[in-house]
Amino acid sequence: MQEAKIDQRTTDQGAYFRPPAPEPRARRAGPIALVRALWNSPIEAWTQEHFEAPVVAHRLPFGTGIIVNDPAGIEHVLLSNAGNYRKDTLQRRIISGALDNGLLTAEADQWRFQRRTLAPMFSLRTVRGFSAPMLGVAREFAGRWSALAAGESIDMADEMTRLTLEVLERTIFSDGLGHDIEEFRAAMRSYFDTIGRIDPFDLLGLPDAIPRLTRLQARGALRFFEKAVDTIITQRASRLAEEPEAVRRDILTLLLEARDPQTGSGLSEAEIKANIITFIAAGHETTANALAWSLFLLSQSPEWSARVAAEAARELAGPTDEAADRMVETRAVIEEAMRLYPPLAAISREAIAADEIAGHAVPAGCTVVIAPYVLHRHRLLWERPDLFDPNRFLPDARERIGRYAYLPFGAGPRICIGAAFALQEATLVLGTIMRDFRLALAPGTEVWPLQRLTLRPRGGLPMTLTRRMSDAQAMQASASPRVASTGRCPVTSADVA
Ligand code: HEM
Repeated sequence: MQEAKIDQRTTDQGAYFRPPAPEPRARRAGPIALVRALWNSPIEAWTQEHFEAPVVAHRLPFGTGIIVNDPAGIEHVLLSNAGNYRKDTLQRRIISGALDNGLLTAEADQWRFQRRTLAPMFSLRTVRGFSAPMLGVAREFAGRWSALAAGESIDMADEMTRLTLEVLERTIFSDGLGHDIEEFRAAMRSYFDTIGRIDPFDLLGLPDAIPRLTRLQARGALRFFEKAVDTIITQRASRLAEEPEAVRRDILTLLLEARDPQTGSGLSEAEIKANIITFIAAGHETTANALAWSLFLLSQSPEWSARVAAEAARELAGPTDEAADRMVETRAVIEEAMRLYPPLAAISREAIAADEIAGHAVPAGCTVVIAPYVLHRHRLLWERPDLFDPNRFLPDARERIGRYAYLPFGAGPRICIGAAFALQEATLVLGTIMRDFRLALAPGTEVWPLQRLTLRPRGGLPMTLTRRMSDAQAMQASASPRVASTGRCPVTSADVA
């Protein structure tokens, strides 16, 4: 494996660095090396060909697979012919269990009903109303870090998962999770550490009747979720029966009261449970990783650290509801972090009927992989693809990025429902941290991306935090010129509806 070193270089447009990432293999791995790479961390398996060709076909033990990096081909799969592509067997096997019947895994009518019901919870208007609790959580965490001794390090990847879980508690599950948040976090971590691995038996397409080690290991966490979610539902259902007016219309209420306009039926108990777990699962590790990678990248870039700190000092001092929309430099860093390290490194689908993608025949049952990790570093689509350069995402440049060349949140009808929520949260949290602290990697830390269910820094992100300056000083220091905002969130409410 390549050593994790930071490659600094200067070009005519400023100083850039090449953050750590596996060197693409010169040739495809043989079957055993491939299974090993997919089990350990699938991003280690990509070859130069994947980063250079628009479409690459593979013969897999259970059929054909194609990797699509051609933007028109991706649009075809995710949008214009989306009806012909469902979540594939491998993906369903990996995320089955706690998430079965939830929005992430549902198909056809079950998915349409759930998506319609839950969309209002994630509209831009609702999400803006969450600015205050998001900032509140960020400030509380910053307050705690201020008590760290000089030079003491703290795992910021871990802190980000705590923080994002706390944000979910205060926003979409407004009565809290009814359980110790640390227990929830630990169960989530152990669940995803086990099921987030591609089981070799699944890769070989062996029947479900043969037990998978990964699923056996996840059983304890599953039992914990069952019990915890039962408690959440019982408590809320009794509050709704006793004092419906006093209960906030958060995601839990929406789930319990949802009725299909056509049939009048509500969500089944299994669907409600699965969605509670889906929102906690899909909504916290992803955003936590986007934040952890942003913090790492900023720790290597004094220029962008200073820019984000100054912008946050200026914009967070005023009304906060639309502050995230104005923090264009902070958001550019987050978008660049998600380009280099997309929290969901691959999206996959299965063709229902035979089709053609970018001139390639696609047989029925073919697995189609769209891998943001590869797409975002593709030689045909990006200049200096491996270098950290948030300028690409500043307003004018951002307009030139093809819609299907950058997909941290997916695209089409199954685009991430929480995209606006996540972007706003990440912007406000990153801004608060950078305004208040200077960050450095703890001595001896080697950062390396590890792909499990999400793409995270292997072994965490130990960092030292030094208080930057008081709020008043930060205000004075914020006389830096403002980058004009387009006033638009890059994910529109139309995308999310
Ligand atoms: C930076 C943070 C996030 C990233 C990178 C991310 C990424 C994604 C991606 C790529 C998909 C599409 C998967 C596919 O097409 O197969 C997706 C779907 C989804 N995400 Fe996110 N997500 C993030 C945050 C969130 C948050 C905060 C929530 C909720 C609180 C959420 C809930 C969901 C759900 C429920 C789906 C399934 C939507 C559907 O199929 O209709 N995500 N996410």
